[in-house]
Amino acid sequence: MTRVFSGIKPTGPVQLGNLLGALRHWVADQDDADTIFCVVDLHALTVPQDPSELRTRTLELAQLLLAIGIDPERSTLFVQSHVPEHAELSWILECTAAFGELRRMTQFKDKSTDAEFVSAGLFTYPALMAADILLYDTDRVPVGDDQRQHLELARDLAMRFNHRYGNTFVVPEAAIAKVGARVMDLQHPTRKMSKSEDSPQGTILVLDDLATVAKKIRRAVTDTDTDVRFDIVEKPGVSNLLSILSACTGESPEALAGNYARYGDLKTACAEAVVETLRPVQERFAEYNADPAGTAAILARGAARAREIAGPVLSRARTNLGLLETGPT
Ligand code: TRP
Repeated sequence: MTRVFSGIKPTGPVQLGNLLGALRHWVADQDDADTIFCVVDLHALTVPQDPSELRTRTLELAQLLLAIGIDPERSTLFVQSHVPEHAELSWILECTAAFGELRRMTQFKDKSTDAEFVSAGLFTYPALMAADILLYDTDRVPVGDDQRQHLELARDLAMRFNHRYGNTFVVPEAAIAKVGARVMDLQHPTRKMSKSEDSPQGTILVLDDLATVAKKIRRAVTDTDTDVRFDIVEKPGVSNLLSILSACTGESPEALAGNYARYGDLKTACAEAVVETLRPVQERFAEYNADPAGTAAILARGAARAREIAGPVLSRARTNLGLLETGPT
């Protein structure tokens, strides 16, 4: 069976764009692949984190993944730092990667340019990400377009290691999210909805209270004329509402456009659809959130399962590299 691996960082709240984009594919992948999903807390450490916030966010992100339908019976769901093989393979891959190729990573350039503190971990981030992927003999990695370059690097590192030390790693394929759920900021509909805090009115958080969700949609920026049609260039605001409604209902945005004569009606329908999409997620989240011990047990089982796969892969890498095996004491 195809092995799928993906990861998500416990930084900032999950927003509607994540849910209707990447995360929805994770849930669907469970039907026909062996799926492994990881809350990548070590990646969060590349920028300074408040310890108690990091802990809460890690647990709550796992609970949210469970709430959206990641099923611990069908998927391996775990926290990266619970599986020490990640940090160990990361070092090995840092020694496989060239300084120059890490320096060319556009995400590093973007995130380091105006930062007052640039950790060495921010620079080696892609080696840790490659370790995440390669530890599980991963065939396919569903990620957003912004991770394409990191994934390409993971492939290069796998091939280089295999070439130098003999066949060790499966070379993964990227699965860049298919078009469809393109969710833009409600106030600035030409830019992606993101979890960044600078546009709270334009961003719908999956855990926003539902009255707030409806209000944000009713106040979304539309366009100057009044007809409802799907035209991303001329009518970005209206088209965004149609895209969101489409992602929630499964109907095409072009067909949906025909159902509404006025912006107000479209907004009402969109608000209702989003609220009804989020309601069951929030209810399930509340159940998991009320039972942290239950979540911890799910994550402990996930980590144990993950180690069963990661351990032998790491051993293979150690042996092929020529690291001395530990002998009996
Ligand atoms: N870098 C990814 C992001 O920012 C998160 C991530 C870490 C990841 N490890 C991964 C994604 C492994 C896919 C596979 O979105």
